[in-house]
Amino acid sequence: MRAGRYCWAILLGLLAAQAAGADEDGPPAIIGLCSVCHGDTGPSPFLGVPTIHGLPAGVILASLTDYRDGYRPCRVSACSKDGRCPDMSMCDIVAAMDDEQMEELADWYGGQPFPPHQDPYDAELAAIGRELHDRECEICHTRLGSDPRDDASMLRGQRKVYLRTALEDFHQGRRVIGIPAMEEPIRGFTPEQLDALAEFYSGPAAAPLPAE
Ligand code: HEC
Ligand code: HEC
Repeated sequence: MRAGRYCWAILLGLLAAQAAGADEDGPPAIIGLCSVCHGDTGPSPFLGVPTIHGLPAGVILASLTDYRDGYRPCRVSACSKDGRCPDMSMCDIVAAMDDEQMEELADWYGGQPFPPHQDPYDAELAAIGRELHDRECEICHTRLGSDPRDDASMLRGQRKVYLRTALEDFHQGRRVIGIPAMEEPIRGFTPEQLDALAEFYSGPAAAPLPAE
């Protein structure tokens, strides 16, 4: 599909369908719109778009309200710019939603398994990321950021460009979550250290983990 072929009236009409009461047992009706960018079952098909299947429901809900309330940038992804996905930011998407719709989406996506994805990586750079992770991040993002019970976001097997952008947002203070134990170290990292973290989580960390 190419830009221009999308009919926004139909896609956004899905929101209205959801508001009118979708099938109670199935996924919320608006999922058709989310899947275009985030994939049907995940992982996300685009480097700059995060996998959202299996993130903790509380993190998904917080993200959606953060886009609405201005705590996260309204970014249009590269896939929108080159016509591989619709030309909309997450802020455009949440603008038409109420709290109940956000909760339904968070519960549904939060109940799906998280499918880790491995992007190509540079082993030396990733090794620097691993050291930083062990020192500063494992305490909350346990098992390399793969355990939804942490109620912190999933990092292992998240897409590389998305992770790098998210780290840059924290580094610049453009995205605020109010967790100094995470935001302070990230603000102090060099660009190479931020590259190394994204390289590690999206690369070697995505390999299967030993059983717990
Ligand atoms: C046009 C493509 C597009 C569509 C459609 C879309 N998203 Fe997104 N989504 C993105 C991009 C790009 C980001 C990352 C933006 C950023 O850098 O903050 C994102 C981020 C998110 C996040 C934050 C994830 C995290 O790890 O913090 C959630 C949650 C999310 N989207 C849910 C949804 C839901 C639910 C829908 C459907 C109602 C949806 N998205 C539709 C492109 C899209
Ligand atoms: C004190 C606990 C804590 C520590 C330490 C911590 N984090 Fe986090 N992190 C969280 C929580 C909780 C969230 C989810 C916040 C939200 O979305 O509301 C999160 C979210 C993130 C996200 C956003 C993921 C996404 O899906 O957009 C990234 C990236 C991240 N952390 C990286 C790191 C890195 C790298 C470190 C180590 C330098 C680190 N965190 C240390 C608790 C922590």
